[in-house]
Amino acid sequence: MKRTSFQYISLISFFITSLAFSVYFYQQVQIYDQKIVKSTVTDTSLPKYHFVLIGEEMNHDYWRLVGKGAKETESKYDVFVEYEGPKRSNPEEQLKLLDMAIKSKVDGIIVQALNEEFTPMINKAVSEGIPVITIDTDSKESLRTAYIGTDNYLAGQLAGKALIEDTNGKATVGIITGSFENTHHQLRVQGFRDAVAKVEGIEVVAIEESNITRVDAEEKAYTMLTENENITAFIGTSSWDGLGIVEAAKSLNKQEDLYVMAFDPLAENIDLLEKGDLDAIIEQQPYEMGYKSIEIMLDMLNGKSVREIYHTDASIIRNANLDKWKVQNGDSL
Ligand code: BGC
Repeated sequence: MKRTSFQYISLISFFITSLAFSVYFYQQVQIYDQKIVKSTVTDTSLPKYHFVLIGEEMNHDYWRLVGKGAKETESKYDVFVEYEGPKRSNPEEQLKLLDMAIKSKVDGIIVQALNEEFTPMINKAVSEGIPVITIDTDSKESLRTAYIGTDNYLAGQLAGKALIEDTNGKATVGIITGSFENTHHQLRVQGFRDAVAKVEGIEVVAIEESNITRVDAEEKAYTMLTENENITAFIGTSSWDGLGIVEAAKSLNKQEDLYVMAFDPLAENIDLLEKGDLDAIIEQQPYEMGYKSIEIMLDMLNGKSVREIYHTDASIIRNANLDKWKVQNGDSL
């Protein structure tokens, strides 16, 4: 073969090989690009549903558990849960958050209906096509589809029955309630009163509100104890009330003889129960409320039938079952 034809053949085969490689790599790049576009679209696409859950106070272990339960559904379902609320109990701020959720046209709202002022706002959401579930505290007269939470009247009755049992039906009682305006506190008080009403040896002599603060609970309990020296027992219907009552009793040197019940196993409440300063705690199921509220909302949106009321358990923790409770639940809320 002549040298020039050999050079031609080499050049042509080099050209063909390069062309084949270019075509091959071009195709690979195309496939890769398509994959990237596809995965970027799936990775950053928004969850199917955006829900808002509005609670009473973020700075509280009870609500942290409600939020935790709701947020944990995100790993199981195609949802984004925006969990919010005022830092400390503040109904006006809570209502503003509700209004904002309506304006942002979310797919569903879960809200604690603290008092009757929440009813028109819930109805506004529903009339604008946003389904609403109430949590922890219900607004029966509103257009909400369902309620999930404690049967607050029954929880009050449970507390009343425990007090009857623990005091052998003999007690002069003071009540500290979170707020006279808040529906769940009204129900707890009513349930308690109804349970003890039939027992002759039990009399409720005073009731005051703590405005959901420990300081007010202490102040009110102190005044009640000084004005009614014969008080032998207290119930606090909000989680901080027990702490305030115990402080007041301590400053009057009365903690030894006083029977005290409180709501919610906060770490501080469990501590007082262990020391014998608290005698009983009414426990609710905040985590379950949060988790199930999202499942109910999803069922509603997927056209499944849902019930109107989902009551979660309320039970009593006393020193006698504290160890067992700790094994089952960890230390506290
Ligand atoms: C109540 C909640 C309240 C929380 C903190 C719980 O006992 O059920 O409604 O927000 O305490 O005050």
